[in-house]
Formats: sequence, structure tokens, C-alpha cells
Amino acid sequence: MHNPTTVLVTLTAALAALPAAHAGLYAKNSPVIQLNAATYDKLIAKSNYTSIVEFYAPWCGHCKNLQPAYEKVAKSLDGLAKVAAIDCDEESNKQFCSMQGVKGFPSLKIVRPGKKSGRPVVEDYNGERTAAAISQAVAAKINNHVTRVTSNELAGFLEGDKPKAILYSNKGTTSPLLRSIAIDFLDVISVAQIRDKEAAAVKHFNIEKFPTLVLIPEGKDPIIYDGAMDKKEIVKFLSQVGEPNPDPAPPKKKADQPKAKGKATGEKKSKNPKEEKPVEDKASAESESSTSSAETTADTAIPSIIPIASLSTQEELAKECLERKSHTCLLVFTPSEETEIGTKAVGALSHINTKYVHSKRRLFPFFHITRESEAASTLPRALQLSAEVSMVAINSRRGWWRQYEGDFSHQSVENWIDAIRMGEGSKNKLPAGIVIEPTETAASSSEATEATKAEAEPEVETEAVKEETVEDVKEETVEDVEEEAVEEEEEKIIHEEL
Ligand SMILES: *[C@@H]1O[C@H](CO)[C@@H](O)[C@H](O)[C@H]1NC(C)=O
Repeated sequence: MHNPTTVLVTLTAALAALPAAHAGLYAKNSPVIQLNAATYDKLIAKSNYTSIVEFYAPWCGHCKNLQPAYEKVAKSLDGLAKVAAIDCDEESNKQFCSMQGVKGFPSLKIVRPGKKSGRPVVEDYNGERTAAAISQAVAAKINNHVTRVTSNELAGFLEGDKPKAILYSNKGTTSPLLRSIAIDFLDVISVAQIRDKEAAAVKHFNIEKFPTLVLIPEGKDPIIYDGAMDKKEIVKFLSQVGEPNPDPAPPKKKADQPKAKGKATGEKKSKNPKEEKPVEDKASAESESSTSSAETTADTAIPSIIPIASLSTQEELAKECLERKSHTCLLVFTPSEETEIGTKAVGALSHINTKYVHSKRRLFPFFHITRESEAASTLPRALQLSAEVSMVAINSRRGWWRQYEGDFSHQSVENWIDAIRMGEGSKNKLPAGIVIEPTETAASSSEATEATKAEAEPEVETEAVKEETVEDVKEETVEDVEEEAVEEEEEKIIHEEL
């Protein structure tokens, strides 16, 4: 039967089922600049502005989680720095991403102009992935072309034939906003900042309040700005003496001959066949062992998987996860003999653990417990975990637990972990009697056993995991959400203060 509605429905369903290989993470109207291998040079590498570039893949869970925060960054840095993203899953971008040394998604790199145009300084951003932290880090990297001038230096600064702009300020630092203005007018207007304490310099232009912006056109009387402390308005005011530099630069008369290096349009034959090999599929890209970059062909080793720790006794389990002050723990229960599903589950966690350790990011600890061990003698029954392999997250401090449901694939487990980090999804209340209340005697006796245990048996955990466990992980979980109000406040500060 060829009912047109049926056909349409079928077609829509078929389209929806297609892998969204070419659908980027960011909508057309997103404040995030969307790059490709061909536009990176012009929009980022040759810019006078500092940029942050996210290398992502649309299917990656962490990339999806970052998206709202990253769009916030773009809004908060609007006019101050460039916030851009490139879809490394897009066929034509794969080689470029690989040449940029991208080994996992998302990768964030801060790119700022170096001494030579088109040769930017590129640094990895490995800090917290919150809008506030990223915005601050990028703002701090905005090149500073603002001259700090003292009373003694004022006459010298005012010499020369270019127009000048001076911000009189009671601050000892130069704001991102003023630095961005100096970048707009590079080689057009010399921009300076003078501290309120410089009495003679303050008197020179009869400055009465701080901040005050003065424009000194060539051979004309100075003009005091009295508009809003808003980037657009200030740029308009300064433009009366010269146009800001267009960014990107307009094309030169001679057709811009793309240089082979740093371009990855794919047209050029590479001498090294490895260089041509694109990131093959999700799995290989995600494993952070993707294709070699141009510079590091020789030493790109596959990072060895850092296995998760195991717990075998009730006491260990209690100490790590079930005390009243314990933060989130992730536990996977498997049969002691190897099973396909058990191996898959532990493998997924080890994989994710490796990723976090390599990117020096903190996450709650993961533990493996076999069903036959003493550590599994009460908890699985109390939580009614009947499946052969069960994965649960448990937070004794807040009294909740939740169970993973899925096929134990890397991606599915990672999505679940992300949801926990973001405080999304429903939680179950921990049944009574699971969380261990520290009593006077219990505390001292556990301290005693601690001391003897330390001597008696070696630590079970691997180095890397131990490091993660020691850290206070609370910022990585539910509380992330609660920080947003604070972030909003900080964004305003970046943008508005001069
Ligand atoms: C960068 O600054 C120089 C002056 O140093 C200017 O000539 C050029 O047009 C600027 N380029 C862009 C892309 O803004």
C-alpha cells in the first residue's frame, strides 16, 4: 500500500535513524564559531584575537555535555575572544584534527597570536569544563597591547603621530575589555592605562572619576568619553579617529595561495602515508590512540589501559564508599569467573578511567567487586541486584544510589556517568543500615585496623586510581549544577568591567 503519509513517516524515521555523521553539535545560530579545516587559518591562526577551539565529535558524550557551557563561554566572551569549534568527525576535517594533535574528544586548545602572524601559540586547556573556568582562562590569555603609563611617562606616550586612547582606572590590572579594544585598534590607536594614583597624569586631563576614557586625536583637543561602558559604544566612539582592523582580514588582491603546511584540505599528497590516514571510526578516535600527528609520528604510543581497582572485603568497601562522609562511588559487581558481559563492563570502566586519568580530570572512583568476595556479602542483597553483572553508583553522604541499565558499551556507560556528574536522572534512596555511622569506638578501632593493615598488606589500588580517590570529588558531581548561579555572576564581571 502506498499511502503517502506512510511513505513520509517511513522516510522521516529512516532519516532519523541515519548516523548523524555530518550534523555538528552546534546549531547554525549558535554563538560558537563553527570552523572547518579550510577556515581555521583565516579565522583563528591569522587573527589578532585569542581564541579557544573545541575539537569535538558529535557522538561523544562529554562533547554533548560541554555544549551548553561552551555556548555560555561564547556569549560571555563575545567581542573579547573567539570561541570556536570544529567537528573532527567530518571527513574533510579528520586529517586536520589529527595534525593538531587531537587525541580525544573534546579537546580544548587556546590559540593566541604569536610574534609572527599566522604562527599562533597553541596551548591545551585542561582545566575544569565549566563556563566560568573556561571563560576566565581564555580571558587571561588575551594578548595585552595596552601600555601602562606613569605620570613620568605620560609626555613620552603622548608623543608620536598616532591617535591615543587612555583609560584612567583605579585598578592595577588591565581588563579583558580594554585589551580587546587595543587589539581592535592595533596600529591605529595607541592604548594606555593610567592608575588613579598617578596624580600628575590625572591632573593633566583633569580626570575626576574612575574609570574615565580619554581619546586624544592627532593634533586636536582630547575628548572625554561619557557613554556606556559597553564595548560596542566604546568602539564607535574611538572609530572617529580610525577604523578598527577588520577580522578576518579582507582578502589581498593576489589570490590567497594556501600554504601546504598547517592546511589540511586533503588535496595535497602526503609523503607519509600515515598522515593521510583519517581517524577511522568512533572507537579508534575515542580510544585516544588515533592517527599520528605530523610532528609526533614516531612517538604516538597507545596509552595503556589503567585498570580499575577492586575491593574484596566489607571493610574496604565501607571505608571507600559506605561511610557517612563518602562521596560518590561507582561499583561493578561481576561473577568471579570471566564472563563476556563482566569483562565488557569492567573494560568500559577501565577505559573511561584511563581517559580521565590521562586528561588529569577528576572523577569519582570506580571499584570492581566479585560476587563471591566478602565485599559482596551484603550490599547486592540490600539493593536487590539480581543481574549477573550490576553496576551502581552510590553516594552515602547524600543517601542515594542508582543502577546502570544498558549494554555496558563504553559510550552507554560513559553517558550514564555523565548524567551522574551532571546530577541528571532519578536516584533511589539508600535503604537503612547501609551507611556506616561513625561511632566513637568504631572510629578509633577502624583507625587501629587501618594502621596495622597498612603494614600488613599492600595497597590494592593502582597508582593512578589512588590519586583520583584521594581527591575530594564533590565538585565533579551534583554540585556542578549549583555552581551555575555563581558562574552567571562571573561572566558578567568579565564582560562589563573596564
Ligand atoms: C592585526 O593587526 C595588524 C596590526 O598589527 C593589522 O594590520 C591587521 O589588519 C590585523 N589583522 C586582523 C586580522 O585583524
